[in-house]
Amino acid sequence: MQATPATPPSRRTIGLLTSGGDCAGLNAVIRAVVTRAQGYGWTVQGIHQGTLGLMRRPVAFTTLDGARAGADILHRGGTILGTTNTGNPFAFPAADGSTVDRSAEVIEGVRLMGLDAMIGIGGDGSFAILRRLAQQGGIPLVGIPKTIDNDVGATERSVGYDTAVMVATEALDRLTPTAASHARVMVLEVMGRDAGHIALAAGIAGGADVILIPEIRYRVESVAAHIEALRRRGRNFALVVVAEAVPDQTGERVRQQQASGAFTYGGIGEIIAHAIATRTGAETRVTVLGHVQRGSPPTWNDRLIAQAFGVHAVDLIAAGRYDRMVAWQNRRVVDVPLAEIIDRPQTVEPDSPLVRTARGLGICLGDG
Ligand code: F6P
Repeated sequence: MQATPATPPSRRTIGLLTSGGDCAGLNAVIRAVVTRAQGYGWTVQGIHQGTLGLMRRPVAFTTLDGARAGADILHRGGTILGTTNTGNPFAFPAADGSTVDRSAEVIEGVRLMGLDAMIGIGGDGSFAILRRLAQQGGIPLVGIPKTIDNDVGATERSVGYDTAVMVATEALDRLTPTAASHARVMVLEVMGRDAGHIALAAGIAGGADVILIPEIRYRVESVAAHIEALRRRGRNFALVVVAEAVPDQTGERVRQQQASGAFTYGGIGEIIAHAIATRTGAETRVTVLGHVQRGSPPTWNDRLIAQAFGVHAVDLIAAGRYDRMVAWQNRRVVDVPLAEIIDRPQTVEPDSPLVRTARGLGICLGDG
């Protein structure tokens, strides 16, 4: 059971943090949380750089009011609070290369701030950490899902996904004329971590000929045969969308180790392009979209769910309902137990309506 805040509702202080990779729409959530909390007469303290801010002494936070978190941040990408996707406090990297448990410092940080409740904006990895901290420290917690990958369970949408799909779709729009002008096969590698949601949605929206996602096993021969069939029908170019976690032909996912020690996906686009060129003789070019998918101003749709989520999260605190995540289901904002989504990522189901749409449009998914 989570602790119930001792402070009467009229004088609550809410801690707010963004955690994990940034995405478009985070500032819209922050603005909505602050605005709704002010409506209750509460104070919102914005914690800097996720749990890292709670480890610092003095604790790194800013009081968020209408001046700091007003309408002018609504359309801005990134997060005014900063974030981190490394530094799990339960296994925090130490100077000697080992890891140490610094969770007690984070919990002490919450106590030092005098918080009555916390709102964490994150993905399922962040929620696993925040929930563990909340349980260990008796911290009333509400979660708001964000990730361009759209892989958080129990919600049809996470903040940031719509914008990432829009950016990837626009990239395809821009690649189409140059592909046609030079009779090339254009390979667009998109993010999404282990889920193919961005690739599938943007591929359909942007008129791709081939979409490769990690959830569906592909054969390069099928992709090459599809491109050759397009040529026989008079098409001089092709658009191929590849999700970053699609494995190479040996079954390995292509990853790089970063300075933090973390591994990120990237590079499968080049491998697929080379395989296509070898088999078809086509001239290929690769675009790796990368973090462009995260940095843009949020679409109207992301701004909308961001603010709906922010308002609902504060209302959950007002109602004394914790250990829950707000979610978008069947055209409305609901809330679900955080326990329901942890360790249960929502990847693309191989027979989902969008997969059937792609097949119905004659898009090659590599498995034919
Ligand atoms: O989870 C969001 C995401 O953008 C993934 O799509 C991508 O694999 C990863 O983060 C990139 O992480 P980083 O910001 O560490 O490069």
